[in-house]
Amino acid sequence: MAQIFDRSSNALARMSLVLTGLIVIALGVTLDQLQRSPWVTRQGQRAEQPVPFSHKHHVEGLGLQCQYCHTSVEKSSYAGIPPTRTCMNCHAQIWTNAAILEPVRHSWATGESIPWIRIHDLPDYVYFNHEIHVNKGIGCATCHGRVDQMPLMYQQNSLQMEWCLNCHRNPAVNLRPTSEIYNMAWSAPTSEKPVWCASGGVTPGVPTAQTVNCITADPAQNPEMAAMQAPEMGLSPGKAATASDAPPAIAIPAKYEKFTSQQQLGQFLLVQYHVRTPNELSSCEVCHR
Ligand code: HEC
Ligand code: HEC
Ligand code: HEC
Ligand code: HEC
Ligand code: HEC
Repeated sequence: MAQIFDRSSNALARMSLVLTGLIVIALGVTLDQLQRSPWVTRQGQRAEQPVPFSHKHHVEGLGLQCQYCHTSVEKSSYAGIPPTRTCMNCHAQIWTNAAILEPVRHSWATGESIPWIRIHDLPDYVYFNHEIHVNKGIGCATCHGRVDQMPLMYQQNSLQMEWCLNCHRNPAVNLRPTSEIYNMAWSAPTSEKPVWCASGGVTPGVPTAQTVNCITADPAQNPEMAAMQAPEMGLSPGKAATASDAPPAIAIPAKYEKFTSQQQLGQFLLVQYHVRTPNELSSCEVCHR
């Protein structure tokens, strides 16, 4: 039988196979990038809210605390969006005629809630809980960014699975004292800016996190704090103090330990806050129940 296709068409066929392969790969890469792009994750997008509420004005400007409006963030899975009543605490008196506040007044008069557009919205099949994150020392800013500097709210991080897992695989790098969770400007300790923490031990019925006390001022410079310091038992290297030459400890058995890096502080808090292992925290059932 005569050859139907000559050599050149054979090469052409091979070429088009290779080309098809390349196109499929390129398409895959593009889709993958699209999947991670801000267009899909909605990162950085400002929604057209009924009222252009500014966190910058209310938090940085007026000094309001997050809990003033997001009242349930420490004790439930939801942080919650404040009811109109919270706004009226002030806006019954200030800016009472401003046109941009008309939807607030309408809501107050009719009892209909302000139809805020959700900015952060995980799919329903993902379980998330604010309470545990906040009570184990993850600050609002770690997940939401510098909210105090946002004239309009936007989503700082992707909230994709990879983002959650990145932290769950190594939470120590993000742990801070629970007393600092609302601090928008918190930064990791350094040798110039150390943090001192003391563990008050275990008190039945009190969450462990609340028995850890961290401060940013040297307890040795503070007579009251210094008095609270237990005698050095020669545990920390480089310090020659012994039980005999240390001042006698007063009732509270708190011993402040000094931390000069996130590495050290993170490891300490990991233990104190009883954070599960990376393996446990990465298992599917944690977030998909
Ligand atoms: C005066 C009240 C008020 C204070 C104080 C306040 N917020 Fe809000 N927050 C709101 C309102 C109202 C919304 C809904 C409108 C919007 O998205 O801007 C909101 C929305 C948010 C959202 C997005 C919610 C969503 O739809 O996904 C986050 C995150 C948030 N706030 C974090 C914070 C943090 C962190 C602080 C403290 C630094 C804070 N807020 C302080 C009133 C407040
Ligand atoms: C503690 C008092 C207080 C509360 C609570 C409060 N506001 Fe305000 N708000 C102010 C003051 C004061 C200004 C004027 C700020 C300025 O000019 O810097 C203001 C300004 C505004 C403005 C004008 C634009 C701007 O940001 O300057 C809007 C819109 C607004 N508030 C919406 C709200 C909404 C919505 C709520 C409820 C979620 C709310 N406010 C709760 C005190 C408050
Ligand atoms: C570990 C990351 C993380 C931390 C820490 C965190 N949030 Fe959130 N926040 C989220 C995620 C994820 C959502 C979206 C939840 C959803 O869609 O179910 C969210 C949603 C919100 C919302 C929208 C309403 C709601 O409850 O879903 C507000 C308001 C909010 N966060 C405020 C705060 C405040 C205030 C803090 C600090 C006290 C804080 N968040 C700490 C990740 C975090
Ligand atoms: C910056 C760090 C960080 C990020 C980001 C983060 N988590 Fe966590 N998550 C933690 C820590 C720390 C714990 C507490 C672990 C423990 O107590 O053992 C935790 C615990 C949890 C738990 C366990 C709750 C329980 O009651 O058992 C769930 C569920 C969870 N995270 C879901 C998520 C989801 C979903 C996301 C992403 C949208 C996310 N987390 C992002 C640090 C983080
Ligand atoms: C720390 C929380 C967390 C853990 C642990 C986790 N996931 Fe997810 N997963 C998420 C979040 C958040 C999303 C939503 C992503 C989005 O909206 O793009 C998601 C989405 C998914 C999806 C939907 C497809 C996609 O990628 O968007 C699948 C499938 C999935 N997860 C499977 C798993 C499996 C299998 C495991 C265990 C190996 C696992 N997940 C562990 C948080 C988690």
